[in-house]
Amino acid sequence: MKATVIANSNIAFIKYWGKKDVEQNIPMNQSISMTLDGISTKTTVEFSERFLHDVFILNNQIQTGRKLERVINFINLVRKDNTNAKIVSFNNFPTGAGIASSASGFAALAASLNKALDLEMSDRNLSSLARQGSGSATRSIFGGFVEWQGETAEQLFPEGHWAEIRDLIVILSEEEKKISSRKGMNLTVKKSKHYKTRQKHLPKRIHEVKNAIKKKNFERLAEIIMKDSDDMHKCIEEAGINYLNEKSGEVKKLIKEINKKKIICGYSFDAGPNPHIITLEKHVKEIKKELNKISSKLLIARPGAGVKYTEEHLF
Ligand code: PMV
Repeated sequence: MKATVIANSNIAFIKYWGKKDVEQNIPMNQSISMTLDGISTKTTVEFSERFLHDVFILNNQIQTGRKLERVINFINLVRKDNTNAKIVSFNNFPTGAGIASSASGFAALAASLNKALDLEMSDRNLSSLARQGSGSATRSIFGGFVEWQGETAEQLFPEGHWAEIRDLIVILSEEEKKISSRKGMNLTVKKSKHYKTRQKHLPKRIHEVKNAIKKKNFERLAEIIMKDSDDMHKCIEEAGINYLNEKSGEVKKLIKEINKKKIICGYSFDAGPNPHIITLEKHVKEIKKELNKISSKLLIARPGAGVKYTEEHLF
């Protein structure tokens, strides 16, 4: 059977960085994210005797090497027999630029395999499967505000709970990162002295973020988001890695400047230089104008839904 799924990416408010179990992608710490409406991957999967080998086409390009291998290894987790698969995927945003393409990518792949192979998995089991492709994909199965702990994620609040929140993604660079998050995490856990301190602070931070989302306390949320992003990047720097660039620093400065009167936005950086600016709908126009002084390339997302099945196949 042919199956097609659209999955949204997500931005972590509290970041996952480090694996307790490297093989199984079990995280060192809990993470909390918001699913991003329209920042998505669409994937069609079909298993058929017609295919002489597995084929993976991403953004119109036939994939080989590591990328193909990663997808084949993932399919092998659930493949029922020797039948080969064709996978066609499109990202509607730049791949590998700190916008987690692996999050939407592996969430879309997990869900399309679920349908193509008639696995009838629950969302929690799907989340657990997606985790084995990429950690952040664990959360993208669900919509709204999501928490990941251990093997699987769960929804904290649906996307309608706080519909005014926006993520302005500033595209400063479309280059793929040179150091994968897997490698970055492993080096950080080994080398960073600050890593243990961050881990110690996290339970309180997680509690506070959940509360801020529950009570829609934007100021508190923005403060914690910035603190945790800075904290993760401090650990990464201690491992001799820097995912940010000069312009990332300029955006951070600008956000601090805007927030001097009142906190109306917060920055968050994943493993890449492109800032995610979290704010409320009513401040978007003002913040966009300021950000445009640094880059005119912006994507704007509101809280989005979890994985969606569609009959509009890609082939
Ligand atoms: O999904 P991975 O394994 O590429 O890890 C992503 C890690 C961060 O995006 C930096 C943080 C997170 O929780 O999404």
